Amino acid sequence: MKLTILGGGGFRVPLVYGALLTDRGEGRVTEVVLHDLDDSRLYAVARVLAEQAATVPDAPTVTATTDLDEALRGADFIFSAIRVGGLEGRANDERVALAQGVLGQETVGAGGIAYGLRTVPVAVDIAQRVARLAPDAWVINFTNPAGLVTEAMSRHLGDRVIGICDSPVGLGRRIATVLGANPREAFIDYVGLNHLGWVRGLRVAGRDELPRLLADPDLLGSFEEGKLFGTDWLQSLGAIPNEYLHYYYFNRETVRAYSEVEKTRGAFLRDQQAQFYDEMKRPDTAALTAWDRTRAEREATYMAENRETAGAGERDADDLSGGYEKVALALMRAIARDERTTLILNVRNQGALSVLDTDAVIEVPCLVDANGAHPVAVAPLPDHATGLVCAVKGVEREVLAAAENGSRTTAVKAFALHPLVDSVNVARRLVEGYTEVHPGLAYLK
Ligand code: G6P
Ligand code: MN
Repeated sequence: MKLTILGGGGFRVPLVYGALLTDRGEGRVTEVVLHDLDDSRLYAVARVLAEQAATVPDAPTVTATTDLDEALRGADFIFSAIRVGGLEGRANDERVALAQGVLGQETVGAGGIAYGLRTVPVAVDIAQRVARLAPDAWVINFTNPAGLVTEAMSRHLGDRVIGICDSPVGLGRRIATVLGANPREAFIDYVGLNHLGWVRGLRVAGRDELPRLLADPDLLGSFEEGKLFGTDWLQSLGAIPNEYLHYYYFNRETVRAYSEVEKTRGAFLRDQQAQFYDEMKRPDTAALTAWDRTRAEREATYMAENRETAGAGERDADDLSGGYEKVALALMRAIARDERTTLILNVRNQGALSVLDTDAVIEVPCLVDANGAHPVAVAPLPDHATGLVCAVKGVEREVLAAAENGSRTTAVKAFALHPLVDSVNVARRLVEGYTEVHPGLAYLK
């Protein structure tokens, strides 16, 4: 089984490789191909992987290339985890938006639109190459903004592209754990778009346990989302939102907090990672140790400003170990070995959420087997959530249209229609600001 990782010089690749090393079963991945545009990043990550594999017999082989077509040919699975414009681009996404008083997060609001506008054309090119060179491969998309990018790729790959995110999985695990249930035995009734979904129920042995959680302020306040949103608001909603909804429900506070920080998240990661990749150029660096230290610091500071505005304190130790690599591995195993399982994934709607058309990519529990991911029909969302989902899907569609027709006017429309952008004039200035700093947006005329 051959797995190709696009963005193979990326910082989180060792997480994926670490997960592969735990898989000893029949039909496991035996060959990993890393693809990246940057040789020195490939070299750095390959060093970490070599140290990870050192004590593991029959570890998957690792090769690296900067030739995309060569990387794709013969792949059974393709992970796409690219970052168009790098972390410098992410920092610019934040800076330009904050200068206009709106949010610049990489997946939410203006920042997500800017990042989407420069990522979609690249993702579409990849999808077209996959369709030509590796038509039987399954593509697992981690590239943010994951829902939008998955939808762009699905127009060329149909249901052979599946988007993943660890946020809903982490949320489900936390809720199950505080309720004293085994996360593996619980069915999480969750639906929405990527980074824009709600848990409306959690069934164990056929019984919905969520009302018990919502009725108990102590339990509610004991985990990440309870601390972030506050127990009163969760009780009012009657659901537990994905952590990224903090940017919507507490927009004013999060924009202020991000405007006041010395370094935004993107700028922090840009500098932190630059240091890591520099260290990797020195032959005497203990690669795995340096990577692990950098990773721990990244995890500990995740959404720090949001937690600060909410007075949520430090992250729980259990939340620091990531998890997206586990979703990726579970998905791959389910497909490759027909090991049936249920996972929350980003797939074409196909009627599961009837308010959106069948091709709209949504985030929803799916039954996964050798035939791919099949969304489970879910109960409708309440009006306020339907409104947000439809508005943001409308924005995503404008981003896809702008990427296709290269029109600035369409790009302005995408920004202006976003619920977190409060004026058409702001949208116009955003397009100006972003096209000035991002070479990847030069196609907008
Ligand atoms: C969560 C999100 C991902 C995101 C990751 C890292 O897991 O679901 O989409 O990539 O956090 O965020 P960071 O701010 O550390 O890049
Ligand atoms: Mn995510």
